[in-house]
Amino acid sequence: MSRRDCLDRLQNAAPAVLPSLLLCDFGNLEREVRRLEEAGVAALHLDVMDGHFVPNLTYGMPLVETLRRLTTLPLDVHLMITRPERYLSQFVDAGADLLTFHVEATQEPRPLLEEIRKLGAAGGLALNPATPLESLENSLDLCDLVLVMSVPAGFGGQAFDPIALEKLRRLRELAPRMLLEVDGGVNLSTVAECVSSGAHLLVVGSAIFRHEDYAAQVRRLTQSAAAAALKG
Ligand code: DX5
Ligand code: ZN
Repeated sequence: MSRRDCLDRLQNAAPAVLPSLLLCDFGNLEREVRRLEEAGVAALHLDVMDGHFVPNLTYGMPLVETLRRLTTLPLDVHLMITRPERYLSQFVDAGADLLTFHVEATQEPRPLLEEIRKLGAAGGLALNPATPLESLENSLDLCDLVLVMSVPAGFGGQAFDPIALEKLRRLRELAPRMLLEVDGGVNLSTVAECVSSGAHLLVVGSAIFRHEDYAAQVRRLTQSAAAAALKG
């Protein structure tokens, strides 16, 4: 899918709950994807960790490629790796529609954002709770999305850090048209305030995958998000 199509689709779906597949049943990946499609999710969020930028280690291009074959949903790939520039084209080739890397992982985000666009994908910059917003101010014009982490990148199941809400509110003022995503500790207690602070995309891991009925959880989270969006 083209960069424009991907961004339009995500903008139109907002506020949208994006499942983070970290905790899904990898032994039954196809079934998991179908369950999420049936639940009506707008995209899949894939957490790539290298055991270096973060202490945890997950998966890489082959899993993105596998998912690409299983679904037409946009693939939102969140790179938690050092020197992300080494892998951008490989992830786009594997099927990433949206490729996000961390501002802490590079001195020069601009050339990477340019490269992602040249490769035909949408590009995002992520920042950890401890990283000030100023770190990405010079790159905002090249960002298709900003991913505000509400937990330190690395593990699912951590508690939501409200510093993310403050950043979302400031970003909404700084860049009113920017697609804003929040990731970490988003659940039924935190999703509404994420949306009222400006988040369009809500990444959710444990609050979906630790439940039997994914669709019911997606529905509850989406309802709470939509109600918050209506209130403005
Ligand atoms: C954390 C990842 C997240 C996370 C979400 O490094 O980027 O996508 O796994 O999981 P929960 O919702 O459990 O915090
Ligand atoms: Zn993530």
